[in-house]
Amino acid sequence: MSHLTAVANKNVLDQQFLNDVLNGLTQQQKSLPCKYFYDDRGAALFEQITGVSEYYVTRTELSILDKYSHAIAQLLPQDISIIEPGCGSGKKVAYLLAHLVNVKTFVPFEISKEMLNYSLAHLSPLFPKLVISPLLGDFTHSQMVKQLAKKSALVDQTNLVYFPGSTLGNFAPVQAIEILQNFHRLCGINGYVLIGIDLVKDRQVLLNAYDDKAGVTASFNKNMLLRINKELNGTFELDNFTHQSRFNEQQSRIEMHLVSNCTQRIFINNVEVNFKQGESIHTENSHKYTLTAFELLAKQANLKLEHTWCDDNDYFALCLLRPC
Ligand SMILES: C[S@@+](CC[C@H](N)C(=O)[O-])C[C@H]1O[C@@H](n2cnc3c(N)ncnc32)[C@H](O)[C@@H]1O
Repeated sequence: MSHLTAVANKNVLDQQFLNDVLNGLTQQQKSLPCKYFYDDRGAALFEQITGVSEYYVTRTELSILDKYSHAIAQLLPQDISIIEPGCGSGKKVAYLLAHLVNVKTFVPFEISKEMLNYSLAHLSPLFPKLVISPLLGDFTHSQMVKQLAKKSALVDQTNLVYFPGSTLGNFAPVQAIEILQNFHRLCGINGYVLIGIDLVKDRQVLLNAYDDKAGVTASFNKNMLLRINKELNGTFELDNFTHQSRFNEQQSRIEMHLVSNCTQRIFINNVEVNFKQGESIHTENSHKYTLTAFELLAKQANLKLEHTWCDDNDYFALCLLRPC
């Protein structure tokens, strides 16, 4: 295993975390970027969410991978290099790696060092010969993506950008197009992009998936406040906030919020933030697409939809795209 690419500096990420939190909490609609959910505890809670009965997303995508990984691999060159932005646990890419025996390099690209370490610990023993070049950083930073695209291990290669988990749904359409443009740059003119997309479905199924009865998603959402307390000297009282999932029909997205139960004042690194009773912090969006809407989105990043694999309920789609 080679550690080619530890680009982002930890102190830079910490400073960015503070700036992003203060910026989000001083907007009229308070918000926090969902990319900060995944510290150690957040990563463990997300793993728990993937196992709750209401959260169909992971098990549905895994069932598609289980059924079609072989067919997907047959459409790709065997000696491809794979880049996985927001790789999380690395469990999904293992399905593809099992069918692609000659992968040149695998680049797990994560903002969370906990998730990056977890994916390495999971994949290294399964694929001892695989060259893994982990990258700690933010895939929304175009500059970082440009640097990665120039890495010698990837230039002149056929690359696959693998982006499962419907993580693209966390971004508003304008940002999603920018991200797809970055993936276009990363995969190169002869490359491929394979993306997991959560499809439009019954509203109650969606609301339940983001508000499970056991309260795991609520703990995951509130963990962001705990992380701010720990890492940014914050004073949030977790019991003073309630987790809520809302469906925004107009934007076709689930929103997660933390609603303030009372009028309160908190501090982050000595900066005061005031809450009215009922005021919320918007912590995550999960956009739900039709295949037509997704195809149009991808077209705006000059990516053409070549193949789609769905589950029997049409809950989720794996979409193979190529530069056009
Ligand atoms: C919902 S999880 C999905 C994990 C995995 N892709 C899967 O499908 O199981 C999202 C992952 O993306 C990572 N992530 C979110 N935003 C990121 C960003 N801007 N840059 C790099 N990683 C990011 C998180 O740390 C987390 O591990």
